[in-house]
Amino acid sequence: TGLVTLDSGFTNTASCTSSVTYIDGDQGILRYRGYPIEQLAEKSTFIEVAYLLIYGELPTATQLEAFSGRIQRHTLLHEDLKRFFDGFPRDAHPMPVLSSAVSALSTFYQDSLNPFDDEQVELSTFRLLAKLPTIAAYAHRKSLGQPLLYPDNRLGLVENFLRMSFGNPAEDYEVDPATAKALDLLFILHADHEQNCSTSTVRLVGSGQANLFASVSAGIHALSGPLHGGANSAVLDMLEGIRTSDDDVDTFMTKVKNKEKGVRLMGFGHRVYKNYDPRAALVKKTADQILEKLGKRDEMLDIAMRLEEIALNDDYFIERKLYPNVDFYTGIIYKAMGFPTKMFTVLFALGRLPGWIAQWREMIADPATKIGRPRQVYVGSPERDYLALDQR
Ligand code: CMC
Repeated sequence: TGLVTLDSGFTNTASCTSSVTYIDGDQGILRYRGYPIEQLAEKSTFIEVAYLLIYGELPTATQLEAFSGRIQRHTLLHEDLKRFFDGFPRDAHPMPVLSSAVSALSTFYQDSLNPFDDEQVELSTFRLLAKLPTIAAYAHRKSLGQPLLYPDNRLGLVENFLRMSFGNPAEDYEVDPATAKALDLLFILHADHEQNCSTSTVRLVGSGQANLFASVSAGIHALSGPLHGGANSAVLDMLEGIRTSDDDVDTFMTKVKNKEKGVRLMGFGHRVYKNYDPRAALVKKTADQILEKLGKRDEMLDIAMRLEEIALNDDYFIERKLYPNVDFYTGIIYKAMGFPTKMFTVLFALGRLPGWIAQWREMIADPATKIGRPRQVYVGSPERDYLALDQR
């Protein structure tokens, strides 16, 4: 009881202290554990960034080898869990399949559910990091009616995922190094973003001392919405809509500015960034390079660039400080790699996983953590007496 402050959407309320990720939204700065995202994008790898986020320091060569090796040992899914995929309708969206399968992990690994046992937390960390790519690839293959491939543990995490996504059990699959490198980079850029909607969800669920699998499964659901991770597929739907409609780009932008039927420029705007999202700048550069390399110059990229150009010079967007966010250009790259639109947010989830794990572990280890329990401002009826059915 007492006075509570209403902060709808938590625009001004910190829910925790954290030493994982730093963002300065006005200047467009993003750092993981102090390291600028630009340096990590250029020099690091996703697996190294995962280690950095979870343990707080860059690994030595020995630590990195042990870390990768341990992940590789857990990539297989239990055969019973594999059968799980048959229960979903053929055209099931891969996001709910992903979160359901992650949720199911807590039924298969009952030996690693105690949030206060460090060894168990470590084990569930490795299980999640190793199995999410396998689950994601299976969700993808299942939606196409294609066979599921076992992981090939001679390959690294990203290469393995690409092979399971696009390979054929009867043939060798050559992973294209440019594609693997681009996907690795995109995973780095998605790996953490402090207290966003899905990460806050992971922490909130975990604050009730639910296990890591349950917390991450909830985070995947939170990520799926179009205002959050779902924006990456919404962007492609938007671009496709513009390409196939009679409207030109300017007409579409007029609709956005008039807020016609709630139309938004998807992939634009951010709660924290009031400047160019530093991830979007890196993604845009990659889009140019990878499309060139794959020989897949895309009409969608031209439409996207035209939209950006209009927006950056238009008062509506300037006044509201709306810039492209990470989701604006990623879909075009995923599409060029051969992923269907439905898979885009799943790819976001694969990238975000180390961040969710790091934040959950930070929360569990922090003695100041209390159960997340927001207050409310009640605006309902004052006290009144119950009326019998025949008196209503
Ligand atoms: N297109 C047109 N107008 C917009 C947009 C947009 N994309 N984003 C915000 N606005 C307007 C909004 O209508 C409001 O105008 P007014 O002041 O006239 O009412 C003003 O800008 C402030 O917007 P808001 O909705 O109060 O801002 P927010 O901080 O609550 O929302 C956001 C942030 C990301 C949800 C929002 O910008 C948005 O819906 N963007 C499109 C979806 C998207 O790209 N999401 C991905 C976010 S980044 C990565 C991730 O989290 O996955």
